[in-house]
Amino acid sequence: MSHSHSPKTLQVATTSSLGPVTPEEANLLEKLDLARLPRHVAVIMDGNGRWAQKRHLPRIAGHRSGTQSARITIETCARLKIEALTLYAFSVENWRRPKTEIDFLMALLREYLRKEMPRLQKNNIRMRFLGRIDELPAGVQDDVREAMEKTAGNQGMVLCVALNYGGRAEIVDAMNAILAERNGHGAPHKVTEEQLSRHLYTGGLPDPDLLIRTSGEMRVSNFLLWQIAYAEIFVTETLWPDFARARLLEALLEYQKRERRYGGIREGAPSDEKPARAAGN
Ligand code: FPP
Repeated sequence: MSHSHSPKTLQVATTSSLGPVTPEEANLLEKLDLARLPRHVAVIMDGNGRWAQKRHLPRIAGHRSGTQSARITIETCARLKIEALTLYAFSVENWRRPKTEIDFLMALLREYLRKEMPRLQKNNIRMRFLGRIDELPAGVQDDVREAMEKTAGNQGMVLCVALNYGGRAEIVDAMNAILAERNGHGAPHKVTEEQLSRHLYTGGLPDPDLLIRTSGEMRVSNFLLWQIAYAEIFVTETLWPDFARARLLEALLEYQKRERRYGGIREGAPSDEKPARAAGN
């Protein structure tokens, strides 16, 4: 493990780091440019309930099956040397679900952290949790802290689990953190975008370049509102428990097909002048 590499070093994965692949995955990997992957992928893992319903199973069976898709997505992104992956596990709105389902989701997360720790370590993954963690049940808070501490020295992918997360709550929390820092520090000055970004739960991470949402809904659902300003959005009909590695590779391929302009004109397009202003981001 190298402790000397800076986050700026371009880390390019090789296909072999994924281990054995199916013919379908091999075909997709052939088309994928491993040097042009998104730096940060965010995922709204939707459709667990519908997956279970289709099979006449209880909703919780869908969540359990969904952890398998989470495991595959986490490991694949880490091995492709993607810098950051954010998974939407539990929103501030999810407290409206039946208590039994909430308890199950919390227990599932704790079980995941316990069982998967060796694999997370092996893949050199650093864990972060985004959301109002202090409002979670005490046992969950303990496990979350332990997972962060145990993986704090890892140098590979940052895995963010959004837990008791809301995008508006996050912006409010960031503003309050800025206000708290200012108390007693002279005259107030204007807040900048850079300062607000730094105070978000994702402070220090690049903004997501790609947002994946499974199970077809065309909504952002209060997820990373500030950070997805320029993200490519990929919505698939696939339900989260069916989101296999090939589906992830398809999403990455689709991302590479899109042209990213950040409100400017296409890079290399004929133009008579220089941009009037440097791009903000
Ligand atoms: C959305 O499906 C899914 C969730 C609210 C929970 C996601 C949690 C997991 C996949 C498991 C734990 C996560 C990790 C990181 C190990 P839904 O219930 O809203 O589905 P529906 O829209 O079909 O009802």
